[in-house]
Amino acid sequence: MWAAVIGVLGFAVFGQACTPSVTTVSGTHAPITVCSGAMIFADDFTEFDLEKWQHENTLAGGGNWEFQYYNNNRTNSFTHNGLLFIRPSLTSDQFGEAFLSSGHLNIEGGAPADRCTNPQWFGCERTGTPSNILNPIKSARIRTVNSFSFRYGRVEVRAKMPAGDWLWPAIWLMPAYNSYGTWPASGEIDLVESRGNRNMFNNGIHIGTQEAGSTLHFGPYPNLNGWERAHWVRRNSAGYDRAFHRYQLEWTPDFIRFSIDDVELGRVTPGSGGFWQLGGFDTQNVENPWRYGSKMAPFDQKFYLIINLAVGGTNGFFPDGVSNPVPKPWWNGSPTALTDFWNGRSGWLPTWNLNSNDGQDASLQVDYVRVWAL
Ligand SMILES: *[C@@H]1O[C@H](CO)[C@@H](O)[C@H](O)[C@H]1NC(C)=O
Repeated sequence: MWAAVIGVLGFAVFGQACTPSVTTVSGTHAPITVCSGAMIFADDFTEFDLEKWQHENTLAGGGNWEFQYYNNNRTNSFTHNGLLFIRPSLTSDQFGEAFLSSGHLNIEGGAPADRCTNPQWFGCERTGTPSNILNPIKSARIRTVNSFSFRYGRVEVRAKMPAGDWLWPAIWLMPAYNSYGTWPASGEIDLVESRGNRNMFNNGIHIGTQEAGSTLHFGPYPNLNGWERAHWVRRNSAGYDRAFHRYQLEWTPDFIRFSIDDVELGRVTPGSGGFWQLGGFDTQNVENPWRYGSKMAPFDQKFYLIINLAVGGTNGFFPDGVSNPVPKPWWNGSPTALTDFWNGRSGWLPTWNLNSNDGQDASLQVDYVRVWAL
């Protein structure tokens, strides 16, 4: 009602008609009317608006056996001077070190905001043992799953990547309704990911803070994922941890394009065979879940925003055999990766610099998030 009145007033006062947009939205903070080119979601983090950003509360490890425990705690996520900080801390600071190898965590809470958000992969309850300790790092992952999701639009996030060995920051989007089935059938849009190591090389290439990447995940099953055909990285010898950069997504009914500071990083423009052909799945004997979608399927449905800081993991994002001043303390095939990582802390903890400046170096910092309709 008020939006309608304001819309009419706006038209009367400014004489600007609302040109309808192909962009669609939903959520508690989505606009009622979507006008072409209008800003449809924004946060400049002058305060921490938990109506927009829901915290994950889980030990799940993101499906990659990552080492962090995501929680809603102002040690790990806060706003200060107009910036959002996602800051890692040690689980042992809260529970003591012995707890890691003998304690029991059941993080399911009674209040709506305290519910465990991901029970998969032992995400709500774990018991630590000496060979398989409890998640040794606390961190945060926040999302607009209830407040805002959208289909097609432009996104710009101004952010500074963290520095610290084995830190894995990400700003990304996941499907709101899994319209084509569970991951990766409904897609995943990774606006930016990086690695916090300041001196890590893989085959002579710096893959730490000097690299930022964007990726699409799509495919009928986890082991049929076409991400390698929609993955791009850029190198910046100054390091993405040294300054804020603008990470940008342009998502239309024809193409998806990633840019950093207005310079295109990569794009996909699927043909009539869509992402099915792009992924090379047409040669496989599997049913196409996107066959009744558009050529952009699965990227023709609504997605929501996620900002998180993960650590480690065993999926190969941190390859075995990289060269790092202190070698990687776990193998990706190790059944004791959590313990191995923790036992190597004299190597990585000093690089996080947590004791100076409230851990700002190791924090993923976000100045703003902005989304516009096409
Ligand atoms: C939040 O985290 C800090 C640091 O680990 C811890 O001391 C505190 O107990 C936590 N608060 C709650 C309510 O869990």
